[in-house]
Amino acid sequence: MKQITEHKTGHIEWQSPSNIAIVKYWGKHGNQLPANPSLSFTLSTSYSQTSMEFDVNPDRKKFDLDFEFEGKPSPKFAERIQKYFERNAADFPYLNNLKLYLKSRNSFPHSAGIASSASAMSALAMCIASMESRLFGGFPEKSMFRMRASHLARLASGSAARSVYGGLVAWGESEFIANSSDYYAVPVNENLHDTFKSFHDTILIVDAGEKAVSSSAGHSLMTKHPYSEMRYFTARQHMEMLKEIMEQGDVEEFGKILENEALTLHGLMMNSDPSFILMKPNTLKIIEIVREVRESQKFPWYFTLDAGPNVHLMYPHEVADEARKLITELLVPYTQGGQVLYDQVGAGPRKIQGE
Ligand code: PMV
Repeated sequence: MKQITEHKTGHIEWQSPSNIAIVKYWGKHGNQLPANPSLSFTLSTSYSQTSMEFDVNPDRKKFDLDFEFEGKPSPKFAERIQKYFERNAADFPYLNNLKLYLKSRNSFPHSAGIASSASAMSALAMCIASMESRLFGGFPEKSMFRMRASHLARLASGSAARSVYGGLVAWGESEFIANSSDYYAVPVNENLHDTFKSFHDTILIVDAGEKAVSSSAGHSLMTKHPYSEMRYFTARQHMEMLKEIMEQGDVEEFGKILENEALTLHGLMMNSDPSFILMKPNTLKIIEIVREVRESQKFPWYFTLDAGPNVHLMYPHEVADEARKLITELLVPYTQGGQVLYDQVGAGPRKIQGE
């Protein structure tokens, strides 16, 4: 990347969705490198929208940042972003010439308790990559733009690396995924069965409160975890199994791995030191009903969980109308204040402003 020689300003804006992991990223080393490969669906209606006005001036001597979240200054997020840039200064040789005015908002309610760092950090990374493209006259190859965005997103929040692409996305080196890397994510949509291209994810908000354990504290629990090696082995195995399962459209086998990954993640947290139980009684209640309906009605729906109590309910598009009725009747009573977010696999980030 070249040095800044002239004063340049511009305005860029991106919308970027959240994602839901099928194979979970849990455990990291070095500078945000994953202990195992992970796989996720990028969502559609749960997104962050970030506007970035930049002013790059060779005469400026110190990085400066203004940050507004949902229309109000947010010192907490501003500090997090400031630290992100400073910690990764080697990645931004122009940092001291830069002034940024950032405004961000989420499509989902702030109190919904859903992970917003993947959408927020991928939206920010898309803006930075666009800005760099303008400052330095584009990337040598088109594919390098998203690669750079994914790398930058990863440095802010590992799972955000996956949100820069739509559909099914893998992050972390796996011998079963072509071109996969620990440094950035890659899309894996080429041979994906149609059923998974329109899969639904309905998020049942059981508790909208703050997370009981931050992601970084969570990942660090794996460093000395007695089961970590076995976990990383299983994750790699799941990547291999899912490749065939998702090409063949085998929803049942997909569902088995999906639920196993969720319960493994929570199991690992329960038997960590310190130990965390992040499920709530209503999380289990919902899981019980989901499994009961699946068995008694042969209804193809499956659950997964992030590092929190909310349930992600996943099912094919063909049964979406029926699922909505069942959710309203059987599951909404166990959510907090009836909060449910209907989402589905989506196309990835969308540019709102800027070339
Ligand atoms: O991206 P982070 O550091 O917030 O970690 C995300 C971890 C999980 O959401 C639990 C799993 C995943 O792969 O998204």
